[in-house]
Parts: sequence; structure tokens; C-alpha cells
Amino acid sequence: MYTPESQQQYIDLSKKFLSLPADVKDLGLLRDVLIFHERKYYIEDNPLISDFEYDQLYKQLVALEEAHPDQITPDSPTQRVSTDLSGDFPPVQHTVPMLSLDNSYNEDDLNDFDAAVKKLCGLPSDMDIEYCVEPKFDGGSIALVYENDVLVRAATRGNGVMGEEMTPNAKTLPSIPLKAGFSSKGIIKAELRGEALIRKDNFDRINKEREKDGLTLFANPRNAATGGLRTKDANETRKRGLEAFIYQLAYAVDNNNTSVLPKLHSHIAGIDMLGELGFKIPKDEKSLCRNIAEVHHFVKYWENKRDTYPYEIDGMVVKVNDLVLQEKCGFTTHHPRWAIAFKFKAKQATSKLIGVEYQVGKIGSITPVAKIEPVYLAGVTVSSISLHNEEFITSKDLRLRDTVLVERAGDVIPYIVKSFPELRKGDEEVIKFPEFCPINDTEQQVKLIKEEGEAAWRCPDCVCGAQNLQKMIFHVSKDAMDIDGFGKSYVERFYDLCWIKDISDIYRLDYEQISGLEGFGKRSAENIKKAIDKAKNNPIQRLLHSLSIHHLGKKASKLIAEQISHVLDLCEWPVERYLEIKDIGPVVAENVKAWFSDPANIDMLRNMESYGVNLSQTEEDKPLHVSEDGVFYGKTILFTGTLQTMGRKEAEEMAAKAGARNISAISSNLNILVVGEKAGSKLKKAQDLGTVEILTEEEFLEKIGKE
Ligand code: IVH
Repeated sequence: MYTPESQQQYIDLSKKFLSLPADVKDLGLLRDVLIFHERKYYIEDNPLISDFEYDQLYKQLVALEEAHPDQITPDSPTQRVSTDLSGDFPPVQHTVPMLSLDNSYNEDDLNDFDAAVKKLCGLPSDMDIEYCVEPKFDGGSIALVYENDVLVRAATRGNGVMGEEMTPNAKTLPSIPLKAGFSSKGIIKAELRGEALIRKDNFDRINKEREKDGLTLFANPRNAATGGLRTKDANETRKRGLEAFIYQLAYAVDNNNTSVLPKLHSHIAGIDMLGELGFKIPKDEKSLCRNIAEVHHFVKYWENKRDTYPYEIDGMVVKVNDLVLQEKCGFTTHHPRWAIAFKFKAKQATSKLIGVEYQVGKIGSITPVAKIEPVYLAGVTVSSISLHNEEFITSKDLRLRDTVLVERAGDVIPYIVKSFPELRKGDEEVIKFPEFCPINDTEQQVKLIKEEGEAAWRCPDCVCGAQNLQKMIFHVSKDAMDIDGFGKSYVERFYDLCWIKDISDIYRLDYEQISGLEGFGKRSAENIKKAIDKAKNNPIQRLLHSLSIHHLGKKASKLIAEQISHVLDLCEWPVERYLEIKDIGPVVAENVKAWFSDPANIDMLRNMESYGVNLSQTEEDKPLHVSEDGVFYGKTILFTGTLQTMGRKEAEEMAAKAGARNISAISSNLNILVVGEKAGSKLKKAQDLGTVEILTEEEFLEKIGKE
């Protein structure tokens, strides 16, 4: 129906209207653009623009049609009654219509809404209105009817007036009570509104299972939820693990058929009452704001937090809290005038893949990076995106000049979700992964290799120094030698000046020379010296980790450091000696052995030692001797947060003396977590596990008799 060329034209037009709004002469074109996107979204289930972009275009059309009503045609998307009616389920009429929400995108829109509410209520413009703000859940809408405390009907939204009945499906959701004590509140019949959702982690699990079973994957939790509500097989609904959040008491009458809503006075009182009756309602994620300024604050707070929330939300809903004021505001045919959705910034957008560049890592892994036409995503402009490895490119069939869907969720680095093969015009090029090192700028070509079981191609024999640069950047980093203030930009600058060629050179920098560099001075050179001198005394577990030995992580470095008195002892270690250490496998063993068999590496370490870098085991490297008795005998323990009366090492020693084995991560193997000040995610994880004994610092000391 649409050719790749015409599809591209619609995308180009969409971009044009998004940056420069359409005027009346474009009205017909804008309408066609929206009809095109509706088809992609509703029929092909393959949207080419984000919901946010669609909403922006739709708003433009509404505004133009309002100004020029003579130009409204019957096929305009604005004339469509939105519906999810499929005809597969019995139609039912909602007790009161299920309307949509108007949208807002910024503070100005919210202020306009606040001003309009005051005007509708006949209140002065400087008066504060109380708003209830809650998540805009991104799932499938549901309407539940209870009569004499019993759930008698559940329906989807349908076209807002008529819904589709799916009571048997709804009855499989544990969060929907089959019976609830409405009569105790004087309510004989009630209709509740809410949203059925799938938790994000549950969604991942479902898709993994579907992948295993060879079924098509759901595009997002919303699709999995709405599909789950409208399946003919209630068992399938149950399997999806849907949860229903209730966000509105839409109708409630007593035995005289008189509405009890006025008695509740406020929206939030209605919701909290439903919570009391056993329904799942938004709790900390909803807030009663005293005025629109507090609303701004709360919606922004949630925009930043949205990715940590276990369910997908695409905005917040702002509702006038007072039910009398709500009534004064009234409704349009489309939405209540007392509520508005604040939509979060888009996480997804389309762009064009215009090039691929390659980066080398510290062990020579070659990472392809896509260059895309810049797009504005969730608050930042994105123009470069990692493509990870060759397999990523081939599995997604990404080609040069493809239109691609890009996503950026919160702190997560942006990634390419997919390409749109249907938009190809014929000039797209398959991306051919290079055979030879693409970073190397010398005459000598180096063929890339891929080791068994690894995803990345590697440059095995770097002749251009690019890997050394990456190794040095890692060496100074926080995770490795932690040379404070000596970041990537310093390493790059000193490398370009040929002052440092490998990591040993870092320890013989000429600080006089540094202080003479542009942008540096005596003070900054002194600071660098101080940080480097401090790092020279690091425990050898840090040094081992900082050497960029393939697969040798922090934990294995610590385990090896526990067993040696000097780093160069490892020159004598055969592979078997590493394998005697529990938790060290053959890959790490082979790699460390190979590294210590290379004379160039040994020379480098000797040089470092001569520049004052410590290669001998320190107190911190020594293993803790776990006592064979004591109050914690046989238990595992972990300290988190800042301890007040002792250092971390000291605490670990005390625990070991009391029989506990210190471990480094929260897992089901952990028995005791001791929490200091500002304990963060570890505490939360341990609480979620529910099997970990959580002790304060004082309780810990008390238990080991040190109080
Ligand atoms: S209130 C008359 N509150 O958003 C009141 N709706 O565009 C209208 N939605 O499909 C709805 N979370 O299912 C309201 N906290 C919330 C919501 C919410 C999600 C959905 C609703 C509807 C759409 C409206």
C-alpha cells in the first residue's frame, strides 16, 4: 500500500512538521501523515515515530482544524472514536463513559491547565488548587463492576462508551478481589477504573520463554498486557502474571441508587478507600500536591525515576482532588477538564544510520559504533551508539543508510532497537566487519581474530599503540589503581606528547614538565604527583587487576594476591597452581600464566618497581583467617555503607575471627548483612531476598561481644 519512497516521504514530512509546525496550507498533508502513522501503529504494529511525536503532530492537526473547521474531512484521525473493540467479546455499556485524557508536556502546559481549572471553578488565579498526581500506567484499561460486594463484570475500555466484557479473564488476576467489602461503606454498586500491567521483569521472562518456544516476541509490556486481557483463553491471561492498579472510583451508589461519591469529598479518599478494601492502588508513587508548583516538582521527580519503577509508565496524571471542583470543571466529549496527563519525554525515536566507526578496547576488542543522524531522546541529543559486536549487527540486519529505531531509557546507554527493512530504497549497504585492525594506522596490517566462545573480534598483536592507550586509561581508573584526578583526558594528552607509552611510564612522569604545560600549573602538577605517589603504595590486588589481563577481574586478582608475597612470584606459577584456588577457572589461569611468561611484561613490572611502585603483598592483601568457631561460624557476611566505629577491613577481620566468611555480593548465599550509614542498593536487595539477617553496626559488635 505504501512504497518505501512514500513511507520515507511521510517520515521526512513528520520530521519537518515536528521542527516547523504545519500551517493551514499543509493541513491535508499533515492529515495524510497522521493517517499513515495510524496504519503503522494500529494495523501493522510497527510504529515509525514515538508516541510523543505522534501526539505533537496530532495536536497540530487539532489546532489547524479548530481554526479551519471547513477543512475537516470525515477520514481525519481527529474524527475517529478511539476503540479497541474487536467483536470477539460481548459488548457492554460502561456505567459512565471511560474518557481519554488531555496531554501536557512541560511546565507551561501544566500552568495553563491550572489556570483553566481555576477559571472553570470561578476561583481567583492566585489561589492554590490541590491536585492528586499519580503514574500514567502504560497497560490495558479495565472497568470493574461490583454489585453487593461481588465482582459481576469486567470490561476493556472499548470505544469509551461500550467495552468488551472479559470477566473470566479478569477473574484470573490475583490483584482483583472477587469480593470486596463495599457494603461496609454503604455502597451497593460500584464501577472502578484501572490499568492491567505486566511487571518489566515478568515481561522479560515471558519473552524469553516465548523465544524458547519459537513464538513471536511481544514488542513491549503494554502489548503483552492488552493481549493478555483479550485472549479467549483465561489460562493464558493467568500465565502472563497481569496486575491491576486501580486509579479511579468512577461510580458508587447506595441502596437508594444515590451516589455516595460526594460523601467521599476527594479523589484520593476514594482511592485510599479502595486500597482499604483490598485493591492494588498507587501508594508512594502518588502524591497529594498543594498547588501546581508541587505538581511540577513531583512529575519531574518521577520522570527521572521512571526506569527504576517496576512497571512501565509513560507519564503522570494530574487530577483535581476535590470532587466538587471536579464537577464544576466537567468534561469535553474526549476528556475530563479536571485531569491532564503529563507525558514524559520520548525514550524512542527514529533516525538514520549514516556510518560505522570502530573503537579498540584495552585487550584489543574491536567495538563497532554507529553514527546516526542526531536525535533528541529523553533530554539528550544522541548521535553515536555502540553496536557491541558483529553478531549484534547481523542479528538485527542493520545496514548503512537504514532507518533505525533508537531507544534511551533513563541512565541506560542508548541502543538500536531495530531497523526498518520495509523502508529500504535499494542504496543501503550491508555492514561488512573489517578483517584487519581498523584502528591501526601503520603500514603493517594486523588480522583480527575471534576466540572460541567470544563475541568480539580482537586485534591480537597491536602495533600502533592504541591498546596501550586503553590499558593506561584503565590502569589509572577508579576500579584499578584509582589515581585520583588523573583521568582519561590526561592519559590521552601525555600519550600524544609521547611522555607515556605503557603503564610504567606513568610512574616516571616529569612533574616540572607537566607544570609547564598549557592549562596546568605548579599546583595541578603537585596534585598529580600526590595521587601517583599514593597509588604506588596500593595493595597488589589492585595492581594485578590494573594490568588488563584478559578475564582477570577484581575478585580473582584478590584471590591471587592473597597467595603471593611478591607479584613477580607469579613468573614461577604453573597453570595448575592457579587452579588450586577455588573460584579461579582455566581461562583466567591460562591468561595470567601467559601474561607472566612474556618478558616484556616482566620488564615493565621491574621498571615500575624501580620507580617506587609496590609489588609486595600488603596487609590488605593478606587473607582473613576464618575462625573455626565463634558466633558466626558457618555463616557468610557482607558489610555495606559507611561504618562509624571501625574501618571495613577491621570489621571483616572481626567477622572472620567470629567464624564468618566475608563475601562481596548479595545473593541467596548471603546470611548476614551489616549496614552502616548510607547503605544503598545492597540493603534493598537483601531486604527483597527476605532470607538475609540484617544487622546494624552496634548489633554486629554486640553479637561478637565487642560492645
Ligand atoms: S484517569 C476520566 N488515571 O490513560 C479519567 N487514567 O488517556 C480518565 N491511565 O486509557 C482516566 N493511568 O486507562 C487515569 N492514573 C491514571 C491512569 C490512566 C493510566 C490510562 C487510562 C486511559 C488513558 C487515558
